[in-house]
Amino acid sequence: MTRFDELIAADERIEPRDRMPDAYRRTLVRQIAQHAHSEIIGMQPEGRWITRAPSLKRKAILLAKVQDEAGHGLYLYGAAETLGVDRDDLLDALHEGRQRYSSIFNYPTPTWADVGAIGWLVDGAAIVNQVPLCRCSYGPYARAMVRICKEESFHQRQGFELLHTLAHGTPAQHRMAQEAVERWYWPSLMMFGPPDEESTHSAQSMAWKIKRHSNDELRQRFIDMLVPQSEVLGLRLPDPELRWNAERGHYDHGEIDWSEFRRVLAGDGPCNAERLAHRRNAHEEGAWVREAAAAYARRKQGEIS
Ligand code: 3HC
Repeated sequence: MTRFDELIAADERIEPRDRMPDAYRRTLVRQIAQHAHSEIIGMQPEGRWITRAPSLKRKAILLAKVQDEAGHGLYLYGAAETLGVDRDDLLDALHEGRQRYSSIFNYPTPTWADVGAIGWLVDGAAIVNQVPLCRCSYGPYARAMVRICKEESFHQRQGFELLHTLAHGTPAQHRMAQEAVERWYWPSLMMFGPPDEESTHSAQSMAWKIKRHSNDELRQRFIDMLVPQSEVLGLRLPDPELRWNAERGHYDHGEIDWSEFRRVLAGDGPCNAERLAHRRNAHEEGAWVREAAAAYARRKQGEIS
């Protein structure tokens, strides 16, 4: 048994200096990069509502949330770099479509209620997926998750509160909230990945204690959490087959449309092209900031040395 195998078997952390199988390193780079890309692209759907928020309070909350997502992306690119990859190469891979970001961010946000649905459903799903990652075997990733999860709970709560306000407002506001939940419910279930039997990485990721629970297990945990919350909101989840199964101790639910999931992953979602074009454009427009920061760092370095 190698030192790596001993550490994994003992449920201890693998640190950057530890010897690790290339495949372990590769799957961590893949997952952490995808996670970081998701945070950065994930700023777009809500970001468009910052200038249109209905009050100064809502604008301040949304600004803080979107800024947090940028920070999460930076923590995660930092965690990926401990594996010997270069952040610029990861961004090139995203811009050239060679690396993924979460399917959920390829959906539009036509109303203010979508901002609430994203907080409640997307950040809610992210928390269910990310809390187990705080116990991931790779140290830098697990530690980044601890801080991200703390901020994620604020994201989920502000979304829930925004929807609750609308759902208990005028009939038009209630309708807007209900329609947003119908737009985001099924895509948020897809955030947990394909069904276990179609998951290419789960078995190995669970053996390496990167993934602590299967895709379907976390998806079920999320659904079980959502149903009582939707009742408090007074909003209906768009699945007529949702019902408590006392024998299973979980909610039974309807079939997820995996053909939609595969379509969005193949680049044919409602906003895929728009999201990547916006990202590439932001990267190009931001080149001068990166150059200025690098020049400043060189000058400071020169002053010190
Ligand atoms: N979107 C895009 N691709 C997805 C996906 C999704 N929702 N779910 C799975 N995939 C891809 C996988 O990357 C893999 O493709 P690849 O081999 O070409 O990379 C394929 O589908 C098969 O899926 P697997 O189940 O085998 O893949 P994983 O073992 O990686 O499990 C995962 C998928 C559960 C998403 C896992 O990667 C994970 O836990 N990632 C970390 C969390 C994350 O990335 N969350 C994204 C949202 S971030 C967010 O919500 C920010 C919040 O602030 C809003």
